[in-house]
Amino acid sequence: MLAAALGQRDTYTHAHAHRVCAYSHRLASRAKVNGDTLLDITMGGMLHDVGKLAMSDRIFSNKQACLSKEMLGEVHTHPLIGAELLRQINCSPAILETVLYHHERIDGSGYPFGLKGAEIPLSAKIVAVADCFDAITTDRPYQRRKTLPHALVILEEMGVTCLDPDLVALMIQEIETKGMEPVMPQSSTITSLFQPI
Ligand SMILES: [Fe+2]
Repeated sequence: MLAAALGQRDTYTHAHAHRVCAYSHRLASRAKVNGDTLLDITMGGMLHDVGKLAMSDRIFSNKQACLSKEMLGEVHTHPLIGAELLRQINCSPAILETVLYHHERIDGSGYPFGLKGAEIPLSAKIVAVADCFDAITTDRPYQRRKTLPHALVILEEMGVTCLDPDLVALMIQEIETKGMEPVMPQSSTITSLFQPI
């Protein structure tokens, strides 16, 4: 319901949430995660940007790659707002921390806390890789998507600097083996990801 509410504000963010959900599930499965942890990561992928519900319309309508300092400050609050929203509905702590930390980067360059390496939970590192890959491979108002070969090079480079290198290697393996998600994954496909295995 929360993901659908976000979809009412912005169609790109809605489709992005579905793809990140699917990629997070695929990457976590390839990393041999299963059971409830897999379900939590999958849900975390779907809800990672739910805090954007609270952002102002000017952020959604922005067509510039560079945001003003003030707008950037607003964007940087979305993991905190998302986690707080989920806390208020008694969401699982594992999903909550995935949402809270999905913009942390292993070199400490992320936000909101600037955590590094092992300080970042695995779930958030998985969703971060899925999130970055989808951002690179889809059109945004301010940025054309990259071709798949170029996207994989960029992702590999991010594995040297700010994303978990082992997860990046697994993601590249996953994409080279099974391909990319459709622009808008079928709801039946997404629903099936939440079946326990
Ligand atoms: Fe985000």
